[in-house]
Amino acid sequence: MNKITILAIESSCDDTSAAVIQDTFLLSNVVAGQEVHKIYGGVVPELASRAHQQNIVPVVDTAIRQANIALTDISAIAFTRGPGLMGSLLVGTSFAKALALTNNIPLIEVNHLHGHILSHFIKEKDKDNIIPDFPFLNLLVSGGHTQIVVVNDFYNMEIIGQTIDDAAGEAFDKCAKVLGLGYPGGPVIDKLASQGNHLKFKFAKPNVSELNFSFSGLKTSFLYFLQDKMKENPNFIQENICDLAASLQHTIIEILADKIIQAVKLTNIKKIAIGGGVAANSGLRNRITEICQKYKWTAFIPQRKFTTDNAAMIAITGYYKYINQDFVNQDIAPIARMKF
Ligand code: KG4
Ligand code: ZN
Repeated sequence: MNKITILAIESSCDDTSAAVIQDTFLLSNVVAGQEVHKIYGGVVPELASRAHQQNIVPVVDTAIRQANIALTDISAIAFTRGPGLMGSLLVGTSFAKALALTNNIPLIEVNHLHGHILSHFIKEKDKDNIIPDFPFLNLLVSGGHTQIVVVNDFYNMEIIGQTIDDAAGEAFDKCAKVLGLGYPGGPVIDKLASQGNHLKFKFAKPNVSELNFSFSGLKTSFLYFLQDKMKENPNFIQENICDLAASLQHTIIEILADKIIQAVKLTNIKKIAIGGGVAANSGLRNRITEICQKYKWTAFIPQRKFTTDNAAMIAITGYYKYINQDFVNQDIAPIARMKF
């Protein structure tokens, strides 16, 4: 049987990425981040699309070279259609369409969230590839989304809980900004938290019905708490930065952990996978592992490189869509608020 080789392009936010997957095995995964947003404390859409425009050719070229394939080996080109920033999505989509058209290669659209979920199915040669079996629960936690998803198979999934306001990643990023830590805040908080006492400060957890989440209250109470403390001691943040990071991270993790435990009890699905940028968080990874050990459930913790935005996850999703011959035409356009 001929090999199925998927070239994938991801450009939904501030990472330009291209990857090649062959028969579910990763051949290359190139990610170019964008330093330009750091000083603004968040992604500036106009600057993001310009940087994608600069990065897209070298990133795709490098991915193809590293995979050691020719354009003629590619079975289909998969690209992120949404959700994401329109200007960013347009760069990846247009590039994928042009490459497909000029080389007569089929085109596959991928929902970014579908990609985050199927990232668990990326295999690497000579690695212990741990793949979840269906059905499993996926806690999808990123900069734009926070959802609990029942994954029934590669194509069939159901959201059973989600945030009613901010995403978990936004909570990390916005609180980090208040602390003067730059963007993205999640990785910085993670690092500082490892040296702090997570029980030093207590922040209230929201009371949200069913399996839903809310993070906007935490951000506000964190800000008011700091303003009060700074009135007494202007150096409060500097003197307590590690404990603040640890306590904040602990609160976010406990909000997520409470709901995922509830979700297992409700669905009786005793397998928890985590995905999305926040799944890179050391505290969350440890907590999910600990919960699964305690209750004798199974945890699926992906490698960090597959949690934050990457094209490998778009490639594996493209692979499973290819199996279904699920192609799109040249009239396809990105959708910024694409539903999942
Ligand atoms: O999945 P992702 O790369 O992009 C979106 O689809 O949004 O997620 C980005 C988010 C950011 O909010 C970032 O702060 C967060 O993931 N993040 C982390 C860590 N690494 C990235 N949050 C907590 N701890 C980390 N180590
Ligand atoms: Zn993402």
